[in-house]
Amino acid sequence: MAEKLDVLLKEKRVFKPSKNFVEQTNVKEWMNKHGIKTYDDLLEKSQDTEWFWEEMSKIFLEFYSPYKKVMEWKPPYVKWFTGAKYNIVHDALDKHAKGKNKSKLAYIWEGEPGDVEKYTYEELYHEVNRLANGLKSIGIKKGDHVGIYLPMIPALPIAMLACAKIGAIHAVVFSGFSAHALHERMVDCSAKAVITCDGFYRRGKTVPLKKQTDEAVANTPKIKNTIVFKRTGETVPWNAGKDLWWHELLEKQDDECETEKMDANDTIFVLYTSGTTGAPKGVLHSHAGYALGISATMSWVFDIKDDDVWWCAADVGWITGHSYIVYAPLMLGTTSVMYEGAPDTPKPDRWWEIIEKYKVSILYTSPTSIRMFMSFGEDWVEKHNLSSLRLLGSVGEPINPEAWIWYYKHIGNKKCQIMDTWWQTETGHHCITPLPITDLKPGSGTKPFPGVSADVFDDSGKPVKNAGGSLVLLKPWPGMLRGLYKAPERFQETYWKKYPKRYLTGDMARLDEDGYFWVQGRADDVLSIAGHRIGNSEVESALVSHPKVAEAAVIGRPSEIKGESIVAFVRLMKGVEESDDLKKELFNHVGEEIGKIARPEEIWFVKDLPKTRSGKIMRRVIKSKALGKEVGDTSTLANPEAVDEIKTIV
Ligand code: WTA
Repeated sequence: MAEKLDVLLKEKRVFKPSKNFVEQTNVKEWMNKHGIKTYDDLLEKSQDTEWFWEEMSKIFLEFYSPYKKVMEWKPPYVKWFTGAKYNIVHDALDKHAKGKNKSKLAYIWEGEPGDVEKYTYEELYHEVNRLANGLKSIGIKKGDHVGIYLPMIPALPIAMLACAKIGAIHAVVFSGFSAHALHERMVDCSAKAVITCDGFYRRGKTVPLKKQTDEAVANTPKIKNTIVFKRTGETVPWNAGKDLWWHELLEKQDDECETEKMDANDTIFVLYTSGTTGAPKGVLHSHAGYALGISATMSWVFDIKDDDVWWCAADVGWITGHSYIVYAPLMLGTTSVMYEGAPDTPKPDRWWEIIEKYKVSILYTSPTSIRMFMSFGEDWVEKHNLSSLRLLGSVGEPINPEAWIWYYKHIGNKKCQIMDTWWQTETGHHCITPLPITDLKPGSGTKPFPGVSADVFDDSGKPVKNAGGSLVLLKPWPGMLRGLYKAPERFQETYWKKYPKRYLTGDMARLDEDGYFWVQGRADDVLSIAGHRIGNSEVESALVSHPKVAEAAVIGRPSEIKGESIVAFVRLMKGVEESDDLKKELFNHVGEEIGKIARPEEIWFVKDLPKTRSGKIMRRVIKSKALGKEVGDTSTLANPEAVDEIKTIV
C-alpha cells in the first residue's frame, strides 16, 4: 500500500479536455440551462441533494404516477420517490419501442466464432415480452426470484428485462462461477426458476453450462423449472418435466406483455458480491433510485449522444454489466456492442477489430484488460483504425498511471479523455468519477459525481487530507443499496457501524490538496482479482472443504496484470502426504467450488499457520512475511514459531 501511495504521490500530470469538447457535452448544456458557470459551482450546487436529483429525474424517468417525496432517509435505509409507481423497463424498453428509437439498434452482438445478431429496440421489446409471458405461463409472479446463469449472449439482457417487466427479482450469477457457487446463491434467494443455456464459446471451446446448472439445481426443491436457451446446439442432459427449451416456451407466447406497475422502491434485483466473512452478500437494488443513478451517470460521465456506439466490455454477470450494458444504455436509447468471447480469440486484436468494424465511439473496460493488452504489444492495436473512439472509461480497480498513459496514447490516440469511474456493487452506479469537463490526473478517479458526497476519514471519524484513510460516502445517493437479502444485521455491521450514518465503502483512499480522490484498494480482506471481488475467506473455505485440508490462509500478491493474484498456505490433515498432484487437485477443487477466477496461482504446504490466542488465523502477519515486509510484533500470537513456516515468495 505504501509503495503504491509513493508512486501516486509522484504523479503530477494533468490532462485537460479541449474547450470545444467541453462546450458540446451533456453536462455543460445542463449547466448553461441552470446558469451554472464552473465545475466547482456544479459540485457545490448539486449538494442540495433533493433539488439536484429531482432535476435529474425530470430528464431520465417517466413515472406511472407521481411521487410524494424525492427522498426519505431513515439511516441506514433510504427510499427514493416514495409513493410513485414505476418500472425501469418502461424507460429502458417500452417507451423506445413505441417512440422514435423503435428501429434503432439496441444491441449489436458478436459471438466468439464470428456470428452476429442485431436487435432493434422494437425487436428487443418483443423478445422480452414473449419471455415475460413465458415466465408467467410457468407461474412466475411479481416478487418471485429467478436465477439467471447465462454467458454474454443477448438472451442474458432479455432474461433480466423479462423478469423486471413482470416484477420478478432476478439474481444473475456470473457464467464463470461454478455449479457450487450457483447452488449456494439459488438456495439463498429461494429462486423458483433458473434460466441458462446449453453452452457457450470461450477460447474456441464450448463451456457446458446446462450440465453445470443441473448439478447446481439437483437439490433445490424450490426450483421448479430450468429454461434453456439454445446457443451451441450441443447435446445436453434433459430432465423431462423440469427443463424447458427457451424457443419452445416462447413459440406460443404473445409479443405484447403489460409492464407491471411497481412501487418505485420495490426490489429490481439481487446481485451477490464477496464480503470479508461467510457467504456472499445479496446486494439489493430497487427500481426508481437505481434507474435514476445509472442513467444520469451514464449520460453525463460518458456524454452519450444519439449516434454513439457504446461498448462496455465487462460481463453482465457483474454490477458493471447490469448497470452499463443492460439498464443504463437502454434507458438512454443507446446502441451497444456486446461480445461473447475471449479478447485474444482468434488473435490478440479481436477487440480492436470489433471497434473498427462497428465504429465504437466509447469504450469502457478495466485496468486488468488494459494491462493485458499492454503485454500483447502495440502492434496489435496499430493494425486497426480506432479513429471512431471519442471517450474512454476504466472501472473495477485502481488504474496505475502507466496503464492510464498507455490507454490514452495507444487506444485513445491522445484525443480521448479517460473516465476512471469508482463505484461498487453496493453503490449501483459511478460515485467518484470525472465528467468529460474535468481536468484529469492519471490514477485518480477525481471528484464525486454531482449530488454525491464523499470524504476520507481516520479511525476516529475525523476527515484527513493527503494521508491514507477510509473512503466514506456522507449521504445517500439514488443507487444506494437497500440492504442485504435476509441479512439486516450484516448490512448494519458492514457499512454503517464504524461511522454512524456514514456509508463505509471498505476502500482506502487519499484526498489531495485539489480535492481529488486517489483510491488505493480494499481495506478489508477482499481480494481484487482482475477487477472482481473475491473474499479471502471464500477461497479459504473452498480449500478447507477438501477432505485432505485442515486449514488454509489465502493472501493476495500484487500482480502486474491482474491487480492481485491468489496465494494459498495450506495445512494438510494428519498423515496426508504433500505432493504436486495434490496441489493440482486443490487448484481444481477451488475452481469447482467457486470458479476458475478464484483458483490460487500458488499453493504452499505448511506445518502450521500463525494464529491469535483465540485461534484466528493472522492473515496480515502471513501476508507481510510472504511479501517480504516487516512482520511487526508477533507477541500476541499463540504460535509465533509458525511465522517461520511462511516462505517469503517475492
Ligand atoms: C474497486 C465494480 C479504484 C474498489 C464496479 C471497490 C475501484 C470495488 C474502481 C468494487 C476505480 C472499482 N478505482 N478502485 N475506478 N472501481 N474499484 O463491487 O475496491 O465489483 O470497492 O464493483 O472495486 O467492486 P465491485
